[in-house]
Amino acid sequence: MSVHIGAKKGDIAETILLPGDPLRAKWIAETFFENPICFNEVRGMYGYTGTYNGKRVSTMGTGMGIPSISIYANELIKEFGVKNLIRVGSAGSYQKHIEIRDVVLAMAASSTSGVNELRFGGADYAPTADFNLFIKAVEAAKAKNIPIKAGNVLSSDEFYEDNIESYKKWSKFGVLCVEMEAAGLYTVAAKHNVNALAILTISDSLVTGERTTSKERETTFKNMIRIALELA
Ligand code: ADE
Repeated sequence: MSVHIGAKKGDIAETILLPGDPLRAKWIAETFFENPICFNEVRGMYGYTGTYNGKRVSTMGTGMGIPSISIYANELIKEFGVKNLIRVGSAGSYQKHIEIRDVVLAMAASSTSGVNELRFGGADYAPTADFNLFIKAVEAAKAKNIPIKAGNVLSSDEFYEDNIESYKKWSKFGVLCVEMEAAGLYTVAAKHNVNALAILTISDSLVTGERTTSKERETTFKNMIRIALELA
């Protein structure tokens, strides 16, 4: 077991789907996996391994924010040999043409977090998705007739911003939507020479003020998972 994951070596597959919410991980395992086995309950951060179309795959919650996902990504990679880390999460739209229920692939992740500023001594580092995972996700979406959008996203340290207008600067520079983890995941994956991709579903819009209902979130979440599972 590692510091935060109560699994044994070999319990976790090379490819893992990472929702923020541990109950989503449980739902993914129970809905999509054949023979799911729970490998982690430490801190209620459920993790499961099973098979999908005969291929071994895992899922585990990450919690919210860059510090939380960075802890889990580090341990999954270093202690359990995970090679492909796929974030599956929600995001808020920063653009008129990015509508609620849309699926967005994060090609790159800008950030308001100070983590990489510290790491690189004030210089900018551009956390980016793994090219092969990205291409595979595009192909899977096409094959399943699921429309996708792709581009730069913002990994913010704040869900409740003091200045609700601050999104407009990012929007002007082409950032599609805001979430809270991709930049951390991409950086940790790059540091350890493994692969990462964030697949996001738009749950709310800062442009229009719309929000999806919980029922809609379930349906649209399924489309995102169908794409992610093809990466195993
Ligand atoms: N995830 C979903 N919606 C979000 C928002 N508006 N801000 C940050 N993360 C989000």
